[in-house]
Amino acid sequence: SIATLAGAAETFRNTLNGEVLDLSKAEVGENPDAVKQFEKTGKNPLNGDEAAVQKGKDEFLVACAGCHGHYGKGKIGPSLVDDYWTYETNMTDAGLFSTIFGGARAQMGPHYMSMTKTEMLESMAYIRSIYEGKASKAKWLTLEEKKALLKKRKAKPDAGDDAG
Ligand code: HEM
Ligand code: CA
Repeated sequence: SIATLAGAAETFRNTLNGEVLDLSKAEVGENPDAVKQFEKTGKNPLNGDEAAVQKGKDEFLVACAGCHGHYGKGKIGPSLVDDYWTYETNMTDAGLFSTIFGGARAQMGPHYMSMTKTEMLESMAYIRSIYEGKASKAKWLTLEEKKALLKKRKAKPDAGDDAG
């Protein structure tokens, strides 16, 4: 596709059947730079961006919380804040995006027609921001980011975590 020729280094695949997703099916939305960077690298540039996290929280409450709970801890759909994943691909930003974009089983439908790609990245940044699982299992974080998370939790130890 044109997108591939334009330099999308990452291939995004349907969480269930592995089929390559056509990312052009969703609108880009407000932050084309972030979307472009994400499609190239597979890493969400909005992780840790406080303004994006706030927008993502609102989007999560509208589009996801009905099934995943107000704090993402699970209801009809599973908890998204612990370190157990039905699909281990969701431990990467590319995998999480693909699940939102293309859906999974049962009520977890695709969101490419109801959310822009910017909104998907923002809600992903929110989901990562409320993570309570072990830092060592946060595959989307670099080693430095894992260390920073552990340090933050040590300063304010309310989430269960491993010592190192
Ligand atoms: C599964 C995210 C909206 C119901 C999942 C998973 C993710 C996710 C990442 C896979 C979790 C894992 O691997 O353990 C989201 C996000 C949403 C959203 C970010 C909003 C954009 C919804 C809605 C419903 C729903 C609206 C209900 C109508 C489910 C169910 C599963 C699931 C039942 C389990 C599917 C399976 O295991 O294949 N969701 N979800 N989700 N979600 Fe959602
Ligand atoms: Ca989980």
